[in-house]
Amino acid sequence: MGGNQLGSVFRITSFGESHGAAIGVVIDGCPAGLVVRRDVIQKALDRRAPGRSAITSSRKEKDIVEILSGVSNDVSLGTPICLMVRNQDARSEDYKNIRNIYRPSHADYVYDAKYGVRDYRGGGRASARETVARVAAGAVAGILLDRLGIKIYAYVDQIYKLKSKVPYDQMDINKSIPNALNIPDDTLYDKVTKLIQVAKEEGDSLGGSICCIIRNCPVGLGEPVFDKLHADLAKAMMSIPASRGFEIGSGFGAILMKGSEHNDSFYTDDHQKIKTKTNHSGGIQGGISNGMDINFRVAFKPVSTIAKEQTSVNTLGQSVAFKNIGRHDPCVVPRAIPIVEAMTKLVLADHYLRNKTSTILHA
Ligand SMILES: Cc1cc2nc3c(=O)[nH]c(=O)nc-3n(C[C@H](O)[C@H](O)[C@H](O)COP(=O)(O)O)c2cc1C
Repeated sequence: MGGNQLGSVFRITSFGESHGAAIGVVIDGCPAGLVVRRDVIQKALDRRAPGRSAITSSRKEKDIVEILSGVSNDVSLGTPICLMVRNQDARSEDYKNIRNIYRPSHADYVYDAKYGVRDYRGGGRASARETVARVAAGAVAGILLDRLGIKIYAYVDQIYKLKSKVPYDQMDINKSIPNALNIPDDTLYDKVTKLIQVAKEEGDSLGGSICCIIRNCPVGLGEPVFDKLHADLAKAMMSIPASRGFEIGSGFGAILMKGSEHNDSFYTDDHQKIKTKTNHSGGIQGGISNGMDINFRVAFKPVSTIAKEQTSVNTLGQSVAFKNIGRHDPCVVPRAIPIVEAMTKLVLADHYLRNKTSTILHA
């Protein structure tokens, strides 16, 4: 299986299966001299952990991160950093009844068809548990970005048909949203909570979207042909399990605008900085950051594991009816926030380091 790596200078390699011994990541290209404390990575993993509210999965993993290499006395050595989290709360018996069934909209069938063998326990490598590796590595990338003053902030902006009316540029990115769903607007929070509870009672699931804002991104990040900054962000977001769409700036809304409405006019502010009056570009033009806030949305599907009875086929191709047993989330969108943030950090850290070789003219 290829494709377990992301990034070209700050490069991560993720490993592990949901119910295997451990999930982990190797980070290549992290500069030496960065203060990398275990508790900073642990905090990021604690945010990702399930079981934080009544409407999310009850898998109570401790997710204790171990730093196996690349850091000494809390300082990165410039050598590969290996981070590992041992799996502890894997209830593999929950999956025995679906061992020979291709669960609808899961990766079971395609893994079997492609590899001829698969770890059926908890979705194996296709499980969202793999994102432990991304969040751990993202925490290290975040330490680098913090030094540069780059801020990343994601929140839930839609669940099913209920969409937040707060525009992204009115969000106070210095404050965390004080509710379990990370959704702005308390009235919306109440409505969405009820909606998710109903879906749970009905044995169903719901999707939604996450909005992400990047502030203080320097001008110049992004390699403008195949590795455009928004192309790499899109790839990173679309690699998150259950993601279904990516929109930068005006996104699909641009279809309904004319050029005269969509163009972002430049002006020079009081500090002699070139800015744009509007930001339909989403902070990226020609694949390169322009210094405005970068903003994008990621759509997530309603997760495939539902409690309702479903029909499918078994590994022999025979029709079967089955019901999932065990734990599942009716809506995983809020849980994807730390993952969206981590993936954003990984892409930005990589592009920041790549940009160091762009020109000698500004030196
Ligand atoms: C944080 C998070 C948690 C997830 N938890 C579940 C889950 O409990 N049940 C489920 O069916 N899918 C869950 N998923 C999605 C599946 O991993 C994913 O849909 C599946 O592997 C198939 O991949 P695809 O949807 O990207 O095609 C989760 C995704 C994320 C981001």
